[in-house]
Amino acid sequence: AATKKYQFDVVVSNVSRLCHAKPVVTVNGRLPGPTIYAREGDRLIVNVTNYAQYNMTIHWHGVKQLRNGWADGPAYVTQCPIRSGGSYTYHFNVTGQRGTLWWHAHILWLRATVHGAIVIMPEQGVPYPFPQPYQETELILGEWWNADVEKVEQQGNLLGLPPNTSDAHTINGKPGPLFPCPEKHTYALEVESGKTYLLRIINAALNDDLFFAIAGHSMTVVEIDATYCKPFNTSALVIAPGQTTNVLVRADQAPGRYFMATRSFMDIPIPVDNKTATAILQYRGVPTTVVPVMPQLPAPNDTSFVASFSDQLRSLNSPRYPASVPLDVDRRLFYTIGLGVNPCPTCLNGTRLTASLNNITFVLPQVALLQAHYYDMKGVFRLDFPDKPPTSFNYTGTPLTANLGTSLGTRLSRIAFNSTVELVLQDTNLLMVESHPFHLHGYNFFVVGTGIGNFDPAKDPETFNLIDPPERNTVGVPTGGWTAIRFRADNPGVWFMHCHLEVHTSWGLKMAFVVENGDGPEESILPPPMDLPPC
Ligand code: C2O
Repeated sequence: AATKKYQFDVVVSNVSRLCHAKPVVTVNGRLPGPTIYAREGDRLIVNVTNYAQYNMTIHWHGVKQLRNGWADGPAYVTQCPIRSGGSYTYHFNVTGQRGTLWWHAHILWLRATVHGAIVIMPEQGVPYPFPQPYQETELILGEWWNADVEKVEQQGNLLGLPPNTSDAHTINGKPGPLFPCPEKHTYALEVESGKTYLLRIINAALNDDLFFAIAGHSMTVVEIDATYCKPFNTSALVIAPGQTTNVLVRADQAPGRYFMATRSFMDIPIPVDNKTATAILQYRGVPTTVVPVMPQLPAPNDTSFVASFSDQLRSLNSPRYPASVPLDVDRRLFYTIGLGVNPCPTCLNGTRLTASLNNITFVLPQVALLQAHYYDMKGVFRLDFPDKPPTSFNYTGTPLTANLGTSLGTRLSRIAFNSTVELVLQDTNLLMVESHPFHLHGYNFFVVGTGIGNFDPAKDPETFNLIDPPERNTVGVPTGGWTAIRFRADNPGVWFMHCHLEVHTSWGLKMAFVVENGDGPEESILPPPMDLPPC
């Protein structure tokens, strides 16, 4: 194993898209930011120096950070922010993991422009468990706002309403020719006829589940969230914010130019966001004057496409990469996801939208939760997050529009070291149903079951897949449905869990687990680094 060093300078750069220039926070002046390359088992040392006027933290999304929450990054959860003029060095190993992950700012909405790919190659000499591609590349799907993204977030808070949607989707930072001023802002991938390419697709959008397709070309899904899956072919894929999907694509069509396209998946009756970002799959030698062919994307509200796509995801579960699904459960958790309305004296109409788990809207403290836990500081958080909602009700029945208030709190759930946890996330019709991509820090989990309507604890577990369920770090809870995940709590620390739609995170759709230390010398949280930013 090697040690790889990276320098991340957080700087404000002038960036132009859609004929519109604005100052944006970037890493090293690049949008998307630099890719981190490593091999399984390597040690990464990333020095982040903050030259911008914003507080900053960086999260390595999907890196397990074994015993090492100090390098995880969510602001006020595992660290206080790196202030303007300050710096912090993230030290971490990528052990027992290989594939595509990504990094992003984990404070306010700054990840809109502060993000990039993490590519972890298998150990030297270890092949992929699928045909070796001729070449590989990252495709980062994102969003662009003409307005300052922090102003968009604040405007949402002030009005007490959902903030504006973005002005464009992007592929590797570029919206493509269906948007104004595409000349410099179209990404093209040149391919050779007959060769196979590995595309590492990342959804870095703030608030949109996305469909992705390539005109004329079928894709073979081989990996999700840096875990290998049983390969299957598909003409389109769906990817939630936070997720990654690796596909093989063979340049087996008539030499030409083909659009790769992405647009939102949204199966609720709010105004449909139809904007489509495109990039070009360019066969070598074909003149760039040839007009590219457009792919057929699923309809924006195609719930059944999403369900059947998700249904095809299975862990590879080979002798070398077994799916170690917990078969027994020590701790059963049932969390309802709700939207709500709370009083807000500083908001223009006196109320604001909130979101909650088990009716609790999470409030971040002024110090970092991990420090408070490690040093046993009193009064920062309570360890009484409830294992189930205060009352049971018909979660997904007719919309519940009364008594939408939630309780505010910094309440965490204590989990015994090495216990096995089953968590059912249940969407509700509090205000309205909606799909929510949930991300757990510090772990991968197995998605053992999912369904529409109310979870039935008597019947649904009988249908769980305990053989080869998909293993991931972010899972979409379907609109008006539920998802069950299992994991073994073998990583001590304070681990954030939240909806990866940034708008919902801002509204409080988040909580954290305190996983206790074990008894052994290798079962405790490591000591904090000396340069951990002060609170
Ligand atoms: Cu990708 Cu808590 O984040």
